[in-house]
Amino acid sequence: MSSASRPRRLRRFLLFLVSLIAVLLAAVSGCVGWVYVDAAVSTAGRTEFRNELAVPPLAESRVEPDGTRLFELDMRTGSKEFRPGKVTPTWGFNGDYLGPTLRARRGEQVEVRVRNGLPEASTVHWHGMHLPAAMDGGPHQMVEAGATWTPEWTVDQPAATLWYHPHPHGETEDHVRRGLAGMFLLDDELSETIALPRNYGVDDLPVIVQDVTFRGAAMDGAHSMFRDVGFLGEQTMVNGTLTPYREVGDELIRLRLLNASTARVYTFGFDDARDFALVGTDGGLLDRPATLRQLPLSPGERAEIVVRMRPGERTVLRSNKLAAGLDFWTQRFSGGDDTFDILQLRAATTLRPSPGLPTALAPASTPDGAGSVTERRFELDLSGINGTPMAMDRIDFAVTRGATETWIVHNRDGMPHNFHIHDVQFRVLAVGESAPPPHLSGPKDTVFLAPDDTVRLAVRFDGPADPDTPYMYHCHLLWHEDLGMMGQFVVVEPGGAAGRPAHGHGH
Ligand code: C2O
Ligand code: CU
Ligand code: CU
Repeated sequence: MSSASRPRRLRRFLLFLVSLIAVLLAAVSGCVGWVYVDAAVSTAGRTEFRNELAVPPLAESRVEPDGTRLFELDMRTGSKEFRPGKVTPTWGFNGDYLGPTLRARRGEQVEVRVRNGLPEASTVHWHGMHLPAAMDGGPHQMVEAGATWTPEWTVDQPAATLWYHPHPHGETEDHVRRGLAGMFLLDDELSETIALPRNYGVDDLPVIVQDVTFRGAAMDGAHSMFRDVGFLGEQTMVNGTLTPYREVGDELIRLRLLNASTARVYTFGFDDARDFALVGTDGGLLDRPATLRQLPLSPGERAEIVVRMRPGERTVLRSNKLAAGLDFWTQRFSGGDDTFDILQLRAATTLRPSPGLPTALAPASTPDGAGSVTERRFELDLSGINGTPMAMDRIDFAVTRGATETWIVHNRDGMPHNFHIHDVQFRVLAVGESAPPPHLSGPKDTVFLAPDDTVRLAVRFDGPADPDTPYMYHCHLLWHEDLGMMGQFVVVEPGGAAGRPAHGHGH
């Protein structure tokens, strides 16, 4: 064997190695490219609206001798034909999918008998409701399979579009995605007299928006590659109706938009770019209507809009690309490039005239930040808020009943998040250095944060104090919440200290 052939062999081997690596790199980048291209979904402009929009029924209730309004909610398994001939297993309240719309009036005492007919423990949380911590339905109020839980409280907040959904720690995404969600509407003297459309199911429509993917007959909750935000579905539905249309017979139509998706952010607008009036946010009416063409709504957020219809026309509520300044990778893999036809409105050939929109709506009900006694900072990161994941037996801090605080929330992560606080409606004082845009100018309980965003919130907890039972604050991208992007606080009397969470169920 000549000694000259060894370097030659080595050179040949190196050449082979280099080409192998080049081929592998090309294959990997080809895959990534393919995954990137494949990641965007769109139904905008190519939807045939085949199904009449379902409107969740108003929940029946009865008023007991002491004046308490009693509702019953049954959590159960079921099935639903979202598509003809395909029977999909689902979960729902009092039915197969989603739940009835609860409706109560400010000042009323309400009681809800929640029966868990599911094969596993869950909870029901009243998102946006001001109520005692023990009635909140968070992860400390688990309802075992077969058990009943009966919270009661007095409605004491302005008219609003709230909602309810399960909140079992670690399982919230799964339980909501299977179909457990419903609206909870609050009325007050103002909302019952003001000139806004308010004929439920006629000119005042609940619009519960979810995204969904079907695999065969079943709903598929798998997270696709690089989707750090969680589950993103291929198509949308409203109130459990795919490709929905609704015939309307009034000039002004109020849409109560609820983003009940687990991770997807929508940017609502109409296909003909018409403007609409924003009249309410999470916790109630704005001080006056704002004219908009686009309205972003992240998971858990609500907005009430009023759109003007002309006789005989059709218009489509759409979701457009997200304009939040995300880098192109994050934009694509968090669903920011996706567009959807959400709901088609079909106006009758003659429309009932609606009174013009009032120029003033509701006086401000949230604290304005004056007299704030405490400033708290919240750093958002997938690994936890302020660096630690949620622990059921750790209360992160105590707030004093009745004191106004300033909460500064910063997204230090590379992906979008949002921030939800239980029990309150807060005011957004600033987004970065700027005054809040119209869609953040009303009462809020959930706010979206793109990477690097900072918001300043004025919050006040009016009690009652309960040092042992925490409320939650968390990212409402439900998979993030399940992973532990959540913390707990208690409300205490002046000078009081946090106690210990009652030893209960949960993880
Ligand atoms: Cu809508 Cu703590 O949740
Ligand atoms: Cu909540
Ligand atoms: Cu998050």
